[in-house]
Amino acid sequence: MIENSEFDFENRIVSPEPIRQDAEDEIERSLRPKLLDEYIGQSKVKENMKVYIEAAKKRGEVLDHVLLYGPPGLGKTTLAEIIAHEMGVNCRKTNGSAIQKPGDLAALLTNLQEGDVLFIDEIHRLSKAVEEILYPAMEDYALDIIVGKGPAARSIRLDLNKFTLIGATTIAGQLTKPLRDRFGIEAHLEPYTADELCEIIMRSSVILCVPCDEEGAKELASRSRGTPRIANRFLRRARDYADVIGSGKLTKEMVDIALNRMEVDKLGLDELDRRILRAIIINYSGGPVGLETLAQSLGEDAATIEGVCEPFLMQLGFLNRTKGGRCATELAYRHLGIPKDGQYSF
Ligand code: ADE
Repeated sequence: MIENSEFDFENRIVSPEPIRQDAEDEIERSLRPKLLDEYIGQSKVKENMKVYIEAAKKRGEVLDHVLLYGPPGLGKTTLAEIIAHEMGVNCRKTNGSAIQKPGDLAALLTNLQEGDVLFIDEIHRLSKAVEEILYPAMEDYALDIIVGKGPAARSIRLDLNKFTLIGATTIAGQLTKPLRDRFGIEAHLEPYTADELCEIIMRSSVILCVPCDEEGAKELASRSRGTPRIANRFLRRARDYADVIGSGKLTKEMVDIALNRMEVDKLGLDELDRRILRAIIINYSGGPVGLETLAQSLGEDAATIEGVCEPFLMQLGFLNRTKGGRCATELAYRHLGIPKDGQYSF
């Protein structure tokens, strides 16, 4: 059997979520583009947003509400900041899980200035009660507040400054229909191509003054799971290896050494991804195996396996989710060098 381990999920090097360390956060922020023209990739979203921003500015109107959806790490927060910057307004940022009571949202909304952007990440996490406050706010720029209790209770309407709500979520289908319907603009962010990631890495290497040749950038890009946040993190870690055990320059060979030492393979899989696949193949004969059983056999959290590892494994065609459970595909056997129907020598 594959053994359980104490895997550090929070600091997984291939995590598409931001790693919470002040200095790292600061560097990540410094790499974010400020203008649409500096933003690499997502060309359809970018071109459409350019038109909507220009039109709103031309008419002197507030930009319509925007729903951004797509996997973590693809630049939803960056895009919200760029939109605010291009509109010449402030960007207030929060998270759906941080707004616990209707009063919390009312406080945010009443503090917005005319035209400001309110960015709510993980907007699907808003409670029903909070969501209902948002409907008149989005539609009429108004807050309906209940004053008093029991039979004496009445609703008063408070006008708000006009604002743009930018909501972000991983899957648009997670939103209730009434909320989704109130966004005039929907934009779907897709994983980046290796060429786009290469361009992002070259841009970041200039900002961070890291000498990096094109082959080095390509090697980083092809192992970054289509995600700029991961690409930029790999760039910073590979630079550490280059400074300590290399010449300071990121060449293909140096990147290869660094990522191998971080146990990130040629396709961007880390040890947890490989453990998942090996468990399905070795412990459960390739599957199907239920998510909970799999998680228990690995001693890991089912939600992380499902939400973070599986989407990438499915994207590579290494894993299928079937009615009966998870199955490893022939491609997964091949990638791990395990013969199908063969004898395992572990
Ligand atoms: N850094 C992170 N994401 C980026 C993007 N899409 N374009 C340029 N730099 C980035």
